[in-house]
Amino acid sequence: MPRAIRALTVLYMAVLSSTAFGQQSLKDAFSKDFLIGTALSSRLPACYTPAELELIKAQFNCATPEWCMKPKPLQPLEGVWHFEDADAYVAFCEQNHIAAFGHTLVWHEDCPDWFFLDGDKFASRELVLKRLKAHIDMVLNRYRGKIRGWDVVNEAISDNPKEYLRKTKWLETIGDDYLVQAFKIAHEADPEMVLQYNDYNIESEPKRSKAIKLIRNLQSNGVRVAAIGIQAHWQVGRVPFADLETAINSFQNLGLKVMITELDLDMLPRKQVANAPPPDIDLLTRHQADDYAHLFRIFIEHRDVITRVTFWGIDDAHSWLNGWPYKRENHPLLFDREGKPKPAFDAVMSVAKQQSASTSAE
Ligand code: GLA
Repeated sequence: MPRAIRALTVLYMAVLSSTAFGQQSLKDAFSKDFLIGTALSSRLPACYTPAELELIKAQFNCATPEWCMKPKPLQPLEGVWHFEDADAYVAFCEQNHIAAFGHTLVWHEDCPDWFFLDGDKFASRELVLKRLKAHIDMVLNRYRGKIRGWDVVNEAISDNPKEYLRKTKWLETIGDDYLVQAFKIAHEADPEMVLQYNDYNIESEPKRSKAIKLIRNLQSNGVRVAAIGIQAHWQVGRVPFADLETAINSFQNLGLKVMITELDLDMLPRKQVANAPPPDIDLLTRHQADDYAHLFRIFIEHRDVITRVTFWGIDDAHSWLNGWPYKRENHPLLFDREGKPKPAFDAVMSVAKQQSASTSAE
């Protein structure tokens, strides 16, 4: 083959393989549908190897900070602020054209006790509200114009079927209007901000009805809530597909956008059983690919309301499921421990390809 033609062929192959359907990029493959995100660790960019940084830049166009924007790392003591990691997260996203989301202003975990104490007694409602406002004002002002949307409250709904809201210190000190207060404070601090409520298992009963009640309650109190985040920490073989569709429709009927905020598909049993046979990872890997493909078909079908799909970590080496609920080597994401695409990645990409073929045939 003449040299010039060979060079052109190589160039053509390179272009093909870097386009969405030459397999390479999730964010390009779904660019007409929704953003594709990842959770990012603290200490950016040093927390990742150069190859991992390349993977992030190539695959994802939005991000969520796994830890550094929670109340505890940001304000461990009253008035003592640590912005280094959060600033680095925002700068990294800006430099790499990644839409940065904020997570989270109010949560029962990773929130220091000083918020709720006055000496050795519980603080009054007024004092806790004052501190909540100081926290939200500081954070929203600092990152004004740089964050695409904030999880205002995370995981407020109780897992107990008989109880509506989780019993937290926020609830105990402020009262059950604490969500209304938090959303109002956030809206006043930044009226342009997309305000989100985020939780797990709200696609299924009994939490779905409670999530609907919670959103209705916010709305009837004049609160602007723009989106609901379905965390999506599911297990291979047990993904609640039908519930998910019902929930997406219900949340859409409330006028909300839906965000898939912390997606991963756990491959291993959550309970440690003595002398259990080793899991068949090859079989589970294929099953996981099918489950991810099924999920993305649902996401595409509802792309008018789903604005982003965020994975909880960049690859299997960077997943909280390696350490929760016990230490194990897990495989919940689309890239393996070396950052190589897994069958689940190919399955998701072929959903995008089929979608593109059927849209262009219309
Ligand atoms: C919840 C939180 C996340 C993270 C995970 C575990 O889903 O919303 O911020 O802490 O738990 O990693």
